[in-house]
Amino acid sequence: MSLTTTASPEAPASAPAKTREIGIIMNGVSGRMGYRQHLVRSILAIRDEGGIELSDGTRVTVRPLLVGRSETKLAELAERHGIADYTTDLDAALADPQWEIYADFLVTKARATALRKAIAAGKTIYTEKPTAESLEESLELARLAREAGVKTGVVHDKLYLPGLQKLKRLIDSGFFGRILSVRGEFGYWVFEGDWQPAQRPSWNYRTEDGGGIIVDMFPHWNYVLENLFGTVESVYAQAAVHIPDRWDEHGERYVATAEDAAYGIFELEGGAIAQINSSWTVRVNRDELVEFHVDGTLGSAVVGLFGAKIQHRNATPKPVWNPDLADDHDYAADWAGVPTNEVFQNGFRQQWEEFLESYVLGTDYAFDLLAGARGVQLAEAGLASSREGRKIELTPLAEG
Ligand SMILES: NC(=O)c1ccc[n+]([C@@H]2O[C@H](COP(=O)([O-])OP(=O)(O)OC[C@H]3O[C@@H](n4cnc5c(N)ncnc54)[C@H](O)[C@@H]3O)[C@@H](O)[C@H]2O)c1
Repeated sequence: MSLTTTASPEAPASAPAKTREIGIIMNGVSGRMGYRQHLVRSILAIRDEGGIELSDGTRVTVRPLLVGRSETKLAELAERHGIADYTTDLDAALADPQWEIYADFLVTKARATALRKAIAAGKTIYTEKPTAESLEESLELARLAREAGVKTGVVHDKLYLPGLQKLKRLIDSGFFGRILSVRGEFGYWVFEGDWQPAQRPSWNYRTEDGGGIIVDMFPHWNYVLENLFGTVESVYAQAAVHIPDRWDEHGERYVATAEDAAYGIFELEGGAIAQINSSWTVRVNRDELVEFHVDGTLGSAVVGLFGAKIQHRNATPKPVWNPDLADDHDYAADWAGVPTNEVFQNGFRQQWEEFLESYVLGTDYAFDLLAGARGVQLAEAGLASSREGRKIELTPLAEG
């Protein structure tokens, strides 16, 4: 940590602005999420714009330390982006007080071990989801962090999607009346890897390597549902390995042991029902790769990554079911677009900025390891539901 005082050119001499540089250990930056979303679009974007200004006037700048297993890859990344610091020695990085935050983008399987070490070293934690492979382990991490007094943050990126921010605005305005149901469709076709390379890593399709769409997506659905519609009280899920044979990054055939699709029903606090399909084996026939259709007593909405459209009670057509007559009503034309009205920046970056602000100002941060554990709880319950063929009730979590 360095705390310096500099006078900004515009500020009067009597009101110097504080500048605070935060050193961030970034572990797993060679991966898809670590590189694109966290390093390039978040931390380097913040660095290249000279940091962020907090509500109290403090300017926070960021200094990344790249950590990984391959020195060659790290050196290449550091060179490409003008980054001074990189190392393959995580323990040494954790022992060095100039790095205040430990950020984790490793494969899920490697996460808990690294987080345990970082918590023991007293670092502030910022991590991808899922926070661990089991509920027990995710709760243990939340407890260890609380006992060590370290602040934690878990990626909740979907909440920052422009489409979901518009949805939040609709909910807050009272547009829906009482929300009845949410239908979510997430997915796209992930190639098997034989005649076209797969566009996701092969570990995603092997349970033994931490894969599976439930472990991947249910943590997202948990925070989306609990922050927009109500806490998830129960889940019924059906998992499926639709495509058992896939080909990995080296063109080698392997057996997919993890589900590539999950069909879930979630009962929410307050009575709304959510039904969300998650699939890497669906060909897209929607406007966007994820879409939520929300029906309320006063109005309905369909939102995606960016778009949002609404239909008010007063503009709802009155269809009559008659399979003998072709229906020439244009149902799509009954929907009105929701304007953007504000500038939405990359969601990962937005959350990083909020986390940094909360860290520096010492305010409460809701998206912590306990929130992350609730996501793991939903994934674990979803898998159990599918295995046992029954609905699973979720009990509210405490760190224990
Ligand atoms: N928030 C999101 O929308 C989102 C999307 C995709 C993935 N994720 C999560 O991000 C994490 C990374 O996923 P990804 O798709 O970037 O994977 P990836 O395979 O592209 O990257 C994984 C990283 O972990 C490193 N790694 C692999 N095995 C390791 C080991 N045994 N020890 C230490 N490091 C190891 C790799 O070198 C690489 O840097 C996962 O936990 C995943 O669930 C989040």
